[in-house]
Amino acid sequence: MMRRPAYVLSALALLVFAIQLVPYGRRHANPDVTREPDWDGPRTRELFARACGDCHSNGTSWPWYSFVAPASWLVQRDVEVGRSHLNVSEWDHEEKLGEEAADLVRAREMPPWFYLRLHARARLSPEEREALATGLAATFGTGTAPHHHEHDAP
Ligand code: HEC
Repeated sequence: MMRRPAYVLSALALLVFAIQLVPYGRRHANPDVTREPDWDGPRTRELFARACGDCHSNGTSWPWYSFVAPASWLVQRDVEVGRSHLNVSEWDHEEKLGEEAADLVRAREMPPWFYLRLHARARLSPEEREALATGLAATFGTGTAPHHHEHDAP
């Protein structure tokens, strides 16, 4: 008979091993970029890539723990749901998300707090946050201005 702590440990080890066999969370696909938005400038694009790109583009960098269940399940879900709402690599819809995106950035609801814990790079200074919010409103459109108004100027 194994003693209890050893028994609990081997049961745990077996469980950790078994959940690795679940296929969900291992795909880690970064499909080709089909179309990018008309960025209002390189800074907005850069800040977005830093703070938002892992979940809202096809240029996701998959960290080591995204290969290990159960973390892999959570990462996979965030990326799939995030991309389905907003994906700057497949910018083929005419939704005007500018105001909403700017609000979420200013309210510090995006990027999500748990993501910031793990990605120091994605933390923005107050100045960077404001620059990103303004840039996103200009890039994604606000619903009131026509999408391509900047090209109409002489
Ligand atoms: C860890 C992944 C992750 C990161 C990083 C992230 N988001 Fe999100 N985002 C999501 C998910 C998941 C949703 C889906 C809805 C929800 O959970 O509220 C979402 C929803 C949104 C929406 C709503 C879209 C809609 O259709 O209503 C906007 C806008 C948005 N995010 C902007 C951003 C911006 C801007 C950044 C960077 C400052 C960012 N997100 C960073 C995961 C992320």
